[in-house]
Amino acid sequence: MKIAVLPGDGIGTEIVAEAVKVLHALKLPLEMQEAPVGGAAYELHGHPLPPATLELAMASDAVLFGAVGDWKYDKLDRPLRPEQAILGLRKHMGLFANFRPAICYEQLVGASSLKPELIAGLDILIIRELTGDIYFGQPRGRRTATDGHFPGAEEAFDTMRYSKPEIERIAHVAFQAAQKRNKKVTSVDKANVLETFQFWKDVVTEVHAQYPDVELQHMYVDNAAMQLVKAPKAFDVVVTGNMFGDILSDEASMLTGSIGMLPSASLNAKGQGLYEPSHGSAPDIAGKGIANPLATILSAAMMLRFSLGQPAAADRIEAAVQKVLAQGLRTPDIYSEGTTKVGTAAMGDAVVKALAS
Ligand code: IPM
Ligand code: MG
Repeated sequence: MKIAVLPGDGIGTEIVAEAVKVLHALKLPLEMQEAPVGGAAYELHGHPLPPATLELAMASDAVLFGAVGDWKYDKLDRPLRPEQAILGLRKHMGLFANFRPAICYEQLVGASSLKPELIAGLDILIIRELTGDIYFGQPRGRRTATDGHFPGAEEAFDTMRYSKPEIERIAHVAFQAAQKRNKKVTSVDKANVLETFQFWKDVVTEVHAQYPDVELQHMYVDNAAMQLVKAPKAFDVVVTGNMFGDILSDEASMLTGSIGMLPSASLNAKGQGLYEPSHGSAPDIAGKGIANPLATILSAAMMLRFSLGQPAAADRIEAAVQKVLAQGLRTPDIYSEGTTKVGTAAMGDAVVKALAS
C-alpha cells in the first residue's frame, strides 16, 4: 500500500507528522514517501506542484495531504501560487468526488456557536464536485470590454460549465452514499439564475430515477446556506458543484464548532484518493505546536477505509480519537473549561496510546 505524504505549508507539516505517527503505530505494510508541495515546493523547486511530486502522487494508492498556502505568496502569478498544487492534483488525478462530512462529536457540542439542541448528533455529508465548474472552466482571464456599461474598460471573466457526464457521475456518488445513510439527497443549485445549474438540476433529477429508495430534494444555494444554520439536522447528503461546495462545506464544518476535527476525501474513478483535513494551512498558528491534528488523523482513517481496503484499521483510529476526547484532551481550538489543554504532538501521542489499549 503506497502512500504519498505531502505535508505542504503552515501547520500542514505539524499535523501530517502526527497522522504519520498514528499510521506507523498500526503496524500495517504501508509504504510512505514524502514530497514537497505548495509554497514549500515553490521555495525548493520554483513550482508548487513539481513534476516529481505529481508523479509520486499518481503512482500511489493514496495521497495524505496537509495544507497549502501562505499570505506571503499572494503576489505571485496565479500558476505559481501554493493553491495551484491542490487544484493540479485534483485535476491530474481526476479526483472528482469530494466527501466532506460534518459530524458533531458529543463531547464538543459546546464548541459550536449554535445552540446545542440544533447540532447535537449532527451527521451530514457534503459531496462536492471537485474537477469542474467555474474553478476549471475555460476561457478565463482579462480583456478589454466590448459591451456592457463600460466598453473599452479592462474586465475579468471566468467560465462556469458542467458537462452531462460530469454531473451524472457525481450524482451517482451522492445517491449511493445516501443509500448507506439516511437515504436523502439535497442537490444544491442556482437554477433560478444560472443555466449551468438548471442543467445540473435536470441531470440530477434524471439520475435520481435509478434510485427510487432515495429521497431527492432540490435547494437553491442561498437557501441552503440559510437552512444549514437554521436546521442543519434536516440534511443527510448534500451534493453540489465545485464552488457552492467550497462555500457550503466551510459553513457546515463550522456548525460543529471546530474545523480542526473534520477530515475529507477526494476520490477518482479508480478508487485512488487524496485525503486532507477540511481546514487550511493556518499560517497564524504555524510553528507553535498548537494545531489540532485530529482532522488529519481522521483523514488517514478515511484513507484506510476508502483507498486501502483496511476498514478495521480505520475503525480503530476513529475509536482512538473518541477515546482521547473522552479523556478530556483538547487542543486550544476545541478547549473549554474543565478539559485538559494539549499541543499537537501530545494529541498525536495520546491517539497512538489509545490505539494500543
Ligand atoms: C478547499 C480550499 C481550496 C478550494 C483552495 C485552497 C484552492 O478552499 O479545499 O476548500 O477552493 O477548493
Ligand atoms: Mg475551501
